[in-house]
Amino acid sequence: MRKSTPRNKHAVSVLLTTISIFNSSLLDLATVGIFDPEISPDYPTTLTFGPKYFESYHTFPDVNFVHGYNLGRNSSAARNALIESVPYACKALRDGKLLYWELGNEPDLYSTSAQGAVRPPNWNERCYIDGADEPGVTLQGTLMNHSSNVASIALQLNESRLLSGLPYNINPDLPFILGETNSLYNQGRPGLSNTFGAALWGVDFNLWCATNNIRRVHMHQGTNYRYQAWQPIDTNKVAKGTKAPYYGSIAVASFLGDIVTATPSITNLPLPDEQESAYAAYVDGKLDRIIVINMMEYNATAGNRYINHYPRPIEQYRFQLPEGCHGEAEVQRLMANGSDAITGVSFDGYSYNWELDNGMAVLLHNVTRGETVTVSKGGEMSIDVPRSSAVIIRLNHGRRP
Ligand SMILES: *[C@@H]1O[C@H](CO)[C@@H](O)[C@H](O)[C@H]1NC(C)=O
Ligand SMILES: *[C@@H]1O[C@H](CO)[C@@H](O)[C@H](O)[C@H]1NC(C)=O
Ligand SMILES: *[C@@H]1O[C@H](CO)[C@@H](O)[C@H](O)[C@H]1NC(C)=O
Ligand SMILES: *[C@@H]1O[C@H](CO)[C@@H](O)[C@H](O)[C@H]1NC(C)=O
Ligand SMILES: *[C@@H]1O[C@H](CO)[C@@H](O)[C@H](O)[C@H]1NC(C)=O
Ligand SMILES: *[C@@H]1O[C@H](CO)[C@@H](O)[C@H](O)[C@H]1NC(C)=O
Repeated sequence: MRKSTPRNKHAVSVLLTTISIFNSSLLDLATVGIFDPEISPDYPTTLTFGPKYFESYHTFPDVNFVHGYNLGRNSSAARNALIESVPYACKALRDGKLLYWELGNEPDLYSTSAQGAVRPPNWNERCYIDGADEPGVTLQGTLMNHSSNVASIALQLNESRLLSGLPYNINPDLPFILGETNSLYNQGRPGLSNTFGAALWGVDFNLWCATNNIRRVHMHQGTNYRYQAWQPIDTNKVAKGTKAPYYGSIAVASFLGDIVTATPSITNLPLPDEQESAYAAYVDGKLDRIIVINMMEYNATAGNRYINHYPRPIEQYRFQLPEGCHGEAEVQRLMANGSDAITGVSFDGYSYNWELDNGMAVLLHNVTRGETVTVSKGGEMSIDVPRSSAVIIRLNHGRRP
């Protein structure tokens, strides 16, 4: 059932919740959802869907879909409903619309889910901790922390190793992807997942995934979610607009460049402190660009009780680069007033705020851009990075991807 990915198409994952059950006699409605605000304010936790649901796959042209099948409910009625739904899914996704299918949404949480466990505690596929319910979760300690990213992705890499050891007829060299992920459990946390600090987290998280050969990372989105990249409509909870995490993805996309025609190799450059990280991108075996992510917290938002009244410290990073890199390198910064900022973020001097031009790139005049840094003949380079910001240094001037 797996299909190769047409590269010019967008992909959308449609992952019905663990307890969505197909009902072919549901004639007039696509879905019937029951909200239980005690369990989740964000989506219905009991969901039934009928044949009309599959019409939604015709909404967007040129989009491939990842169709999710229920695994959470394990009664024979639920199994039969799953099997009954298959022909509808196949019909709706024929003509090349199927990207992947997925059996079970977040099965690692079946025995622990805050939304109601669907497996006994010993159904211990992997021991995850529900981060959102832990008092110790903070921006600095959990998100702006390279060691924390390394530890959380290590769990996935163990999984990937186990899968790659399976016989070829079960796992014919399938790419390992993170199909639904983001900063913190339960659609993120206010004051953490919606901040500029979370944008910096996203840069480190995604580049560490790239370094470890995770082939795709789908950042989970939803209306009103704390970790959303944008909100498409005004609701009584969240205003329409581009949110801080969006800029993290822009920086990652810019650093990776055109992954189709000039696929880069990404390498981590280990740094001494867990509150900083750096990566190098090689194209055709040549060092092309470097990114430095400083994740030392700096609070700047009026209203934060812990606003930092000292000037924003600047950290200096020195690199010894290979021969041939000397000359002027271009500098692009991912910037905001501080890690706690939820607005005023820019990448390379551009804002994508909805208020400015419907989310199109708008050049700001109050942010520095167009900086260069000199790489000496001996390959030495040093760059200043304000705390809570990231910088891309593009070597080989004139060959921008
Ligand atoms: C099926 O789910 C129920 C909880 O809904 C659980 O008690 C039971 O052990 C599960 N069976 C299997 C085989 O996972
Ligand atoms: C950063 O994460 C690591 C690994 O999870 C953890 O051991 C460490 O205490 C964290 N740092 C802070 C400042 O909380
Ligand atoms: C990964 O697997 C190794 C060996 O199987 C084990 O020692 C290690 O603790 C595992 N790490 C994580 C983070 O699960
Ligand atoms: C930043 O503010 C948060 C609360 O929003 C606080 O917990 C943290 O310690 C502050 N960080 C610094 C560096 O002052
Ligand atoms: C950022 O700081 C500048 C200078 O202090 C201030 O004028 C601006 O309003 C701040 N932006 C945000 C979004 O807080
Ligand atoms: C720069 O201008 C934009 C748009 O007017 C504003 O949102 C942002 O807060 C400003 N940034 C700074 C650092 O003053």
